[in-house]
Amino acid sequence: MASDTLAHKNAEKKSPRNLVARRLLRWYDKNARDLPWRVGPKARQSGAERNGRPDPYAVWLSEIMLQQTTVATVTPRYAEFLKRWPTVEDMAAAPLDDILGAWAGLGYYARARNLHKCAVEVATRGGFPDTEEELKSLPGVGDYTAAAIAAIAFDRRAVVVDGNIERVVSRLFAIDTPMPAAKPEIKERAGEIWPAQRSGDFAQAMMDLGAQICRPKSPACLLCPVSSVCEALALGRQPEFPRKAQKKPRPNRKGAVFALVNTKGAMLFERRPEKGLLGGMLGLPGTAWTPDKATDVFTAAPASANWNYIGKITHVFTHFHLTLDVYTAPAPKGFRRTAQQQWIAPAKAKLPTVMKKAVGLASEKKR
Ligand code: ADE
Repeated sequence: MASDTLAHKNAEKKSPRNLVARRLLRWYDKNARDLPWRVGPKARQSGAERNGRPDPYAVWLSEIMLQQTTVATVTPRYAEFLKRWPTVEDMAAAPLDDILGAWAGLGYYARARNLHKCAVEVATRGGFPDTEEELKSLPGVGDYTAAAIAAIAFDRRAVVVDGNIERVVSRLFAIDTPMPAAKPEIKERAGEIWPAQRSGDFAQAMMDLGAQICRPKSPACLLCPVSSVCEALALGRQPEFPRKAQKKPRPNRKGAVFALVNTKGAMLFERRPEKGLLGGMLGLPGTAWTPDKATDVFTAAPASANWNYIGKITHVFTHFHLTLDVYTAPAPKGFRRTAQQQWIAPAKAKLPTVMKKAVGLASEKKR
């Protein structure tokens, strides 16, 4: 209803929450980055092209390319794509292999496959749909991309939340919930400040603020147009947001290694299998590394010998914490190494850190 719309607009003008939108849009009018896929605020006001709105094809293409890839990397590649395939129909008519070839180096190749699939679908239906819901049904277009296209290309009120916007909103409202659990709360809070007018410009203003002012490590709060309403700044805790999830404690694994020493003081080493942790590196023979201690570790020993327990070493891997029992023994008479094993003087062996620790302990105790 028209009166509802008017009431909504008036409320928006007065409401303090909309102060963020007004200030940010004013800031954007002066400071918008000049990006090749963007119709900037000046061009928009002059009403050039589709009433000052950018081509949905250009917006879609840029948003797909910008997923997981920086503006600096995307900029020249976007220009190449647009030159080669100026319209969605041109892209739909191109062989998939050409698109995959042009995508080389941009990573996440599923994006390139979906790009082609989506171009075919859009060309078949005669153009891009203009609502967030319909956009979401296109191949490769998720929640974020649908909202971005709806807002930027069609000026629909759609709440767009990318990494930059997540940071801005989590600071504005000092959202203490850690990520990723905070995502729904961030979206809701973003919705509270999202204006009905100039939704696409607001999305891009938030992105620019996040990239240029509300930076991850050293936010330039003195230059920020919304610093007076930023809760994180008021608390002096800006760099803490968005809060990261507590890292899960690393699980423990246990094992045993065996340092067999020959009469020349050399130790017996084995090359580890190519695949898996420390693949292809040298190590002492030993058990598998498991959550529970193996019941009979000596079945993994390289020889039946007089094994002395000399102590434990610990090592922290990315995904677990390892404790290794270290045993040593003189090589029994008549011992013959296998093809995978070699005798090396401990100081000369090129070892991964965990094995250096075990060999260090074995060499120390031996003396
Ligand atoms: N990152 C993702 N989409 C963007 C856009 N439209 N402008 C600037 N940076 C972006």
